[in-house]
Amino acid sequence: MKHILHLKSSIQGASSYSIKLGNAIVSKIQDKYPGSTLEELNLADIGIPHLNAAALRTFFIPKDQLTPEDKASIRLSDELVKQLFAADIMVIGAPLINYTIHSALKAWIDHVTRPGVTFGYGENGPIGMVTGKKVYVAMSSGGVYSDGPGQANDFVAPYLKAFLGFLGMTDLTVFRAEGLKVPGVKEHAMEQALDSIKID
Ligand SMILES: Cc1cc2nc3c(=O)[nH]c(=O)nc-3n(C[C@H](O)[C@H](O)[C@H](O)COP(=O)(O)O)c2cc1C
Repeated sequence: MKHILHLKSSIQGASSYSIKLGNAIVSKIQDKYPGSTLEELNLADIGIPHLNAAALRTFFIPKDQLTPEDKASIRLSDELVKQLFAADIMVIGAPLINYTIHSALKAWIDHVTRPGVTFGYGENGPIGMVTGKKVYVAMSSGGVYSDGPGQANDFVAPYLKAFLGFLGMTDLTVFRAEGLKVPGVKEHAMEQALDSIKID
């Protein structure tokens, strides 16, 4: 039995491919770990704010010196960090928007990247503190980026792998629904993505 956190960041509602793919990944995780609990959050729907100056300043204030105003300015970050640490398995929906992740997912990353909480620095460089989690990424894209000429512009999977790895989430698997706008590819793209799901 695991606790699954499914983060979504699509702005296409019921027609979202990354949400469909993410839901299918969640369903396979639940098959493998019956009784698992699920928490879902659509970062685009909640209008997650950008990390602002007040929150960033507060990241560096010792906990016992926080004023009520400081606490208010990092409440969202604290909640997202708590939710992240509680998860055994993460499923992250990552629709490709203008060559990268949606800004709502980037905002989530900015809120959970907390010095002394989710990462630190040791003598040998950065230390990720969010360890022991399995991460599945449900990518969706109009073009094809895993192969061919689009590969040079594959910024989403390498970025998530590098950055979540920096936070300690080094066990990451990407499933892609890709070519969703490419004639001759789009007809089978979702079916192929669903067939590719393997839970290890
Ligand atoms: C504003 C916007 C920008 C997009 N930019 C890209 C892009 O740069 N490259 C690409 O391959 N697809 C792009 N797409 C297509 C999306 O990746 C595709 O619609 C995908 O299904 C989005 O995921 P979703 O269905 O979960 O919302 C874009 C779509 C939108 C709405």
